[in-house]
Amino acid sequence: MALTRRADGTLELGGVSLADLARDARIGTPAYVYDLDAIGAQARELQRAFEGAPHLVAYAVKANGAAHVVRTLLAEGCGADVVSGAELSLALRCGAAPDDIVFSGVAKTNAELDVAIGAGPRGIGAIQVESVEEISRIAARARAARKTVRISLRMNPGVDAQELDTHDYIATGHDGAKFGVPISSLSDALALLESAEVSPALSLAGIGAHVGSQFTTTDAYAASARVVFELARDVRKRFALAFVDAGGGFGIDYGAGCAASPPDFVRAARALQKEAGVADLALYCEPGRSLVGPFGVLLAQVIQKKESRKADAVRRWLMIDAGMNDLLRPALYQARHRIAALTDRGGERRAYRVVGPVCESSDDFGTHDLPAADFDLVALLDAGAYGYVMASTYNGRALPAEVFLRGGAIAHVNARAEADAWVEDRLRA
Ligand code: LLP
Repeated sequence: MALTRRADGTLELGGVSLADLARDARIGTPAYVYDLDAIGAQARELQRAFEGAPHLVAYAVKANGAAHVVRTLLAEGCGADVVSGAELSLALRCGAAPDDIVFSGVAKTNAELDVAIGAGPRGIGAIQVESVEEISRIAARARAARKTVRISLRMNPGVDAQELDTHDYIATGHDGAKFGVPISSLSDALALLESAEVSPALSLAGIGAHVGSQFTTTDAYAASARVVFELARDVRKRFALAFVDAGGGFGIDYGAGCAASPPDFVRAARALQKEAGVADLALYCEPGRSLVGPFGVLLAQVIQKKESRKADAVRRWLMIDAGMNDLLRPALYQARHRIAALTDRGGERRAYRVVGPVCESSDDFGTHDLPAADFDLVALLDAGAYGYVMASTYNGRALPAEVFLRGGAIAHVNARAEADAWVEDRLRA
């Protein structure tokens, strides 16, 4: 367990006292803290679930693009799933092999495609095509570069929206979503890929789908994988496929439980791969959240308390110095992150409504039972994924600091932006 409570009531991550970090003059609050050892261990556990079968764990860089995190996962044999030219450049500069990178996205610009095409002798591992319309555009860029470039078809398997048991904003594999090639367009896509216009500039290497995020059971993932693998069985009669890609979406336990572990998703996909008769193809998956989410926290300082009374009811607010600009998930998806006092010796509890300093009512982290005794520092848990990457400078706030822990010590500190950096930037506008 990356996060532990010492006998004296202090909270530590990766063997380091979080209160010491918050009080360190180089760090302060708000600050994200990540346990790189736990991230590496999580990747190793996932790799083992493939039992030596050909595969690629393409880490979804969007979840956390810090170089220390990306390099930790590359060192465990992961590749990268990227969704922009910038994420692609980051993965390459962190040392990812071009062959181990897949590039998804519904609206890739020509400039972004050129980075992917230019990356290796045959471009990156696969540009994931999300529409028939995109195919001719990629082919033209590949021809201009005089290369044969590998692509894969990211399908929209049209899984029933009800079955995509997650927040609407992160369900992508239903037929009302902008993502993926609809199954009804597959035959057009294949015909185009066989045409003189496109072949040999593009070679079809894989077929896959990503239907959503934060799945707490394997049901929706398996429903999508079944469709994809059955399509692969037919498509490979015409194209020399190298892989099938079941996507990411493995959920984590934010406190309400998560029945399926990351290896469960892999095992479910492998079983279906065998059933569909495509177990000889490499199995790709694209996890983001599950590799990093549980191993990061956001530290914040209590600025002050506030009480408001209505009749007999007392409302207790806890105002902290981290807001929705630092961790957007609660405001955007009504997500709940557990909150812990950095020093907690047990004893009487009190329910606090924890809120940030931003001038929006949605800057609200929910009601949490915290010590009735005074405390000055808290951690918002499970903030390693989709935290810093979604942070903004709204309300003139500086981006938070980041601390990377390895071997029970600080490996690196990414200091908070200077308080007046925002002012200077806006003065230039
Ligand atoms: N592959 C593709 C093509 C994706 O679009 C995503 C996530 C992933 C893989 C990784 O999914 P994961 O394993 O992390 O669930 N900001 C939201 C999550 C958005 C996910 C977008 N796509 C959140 O904070 O919950």
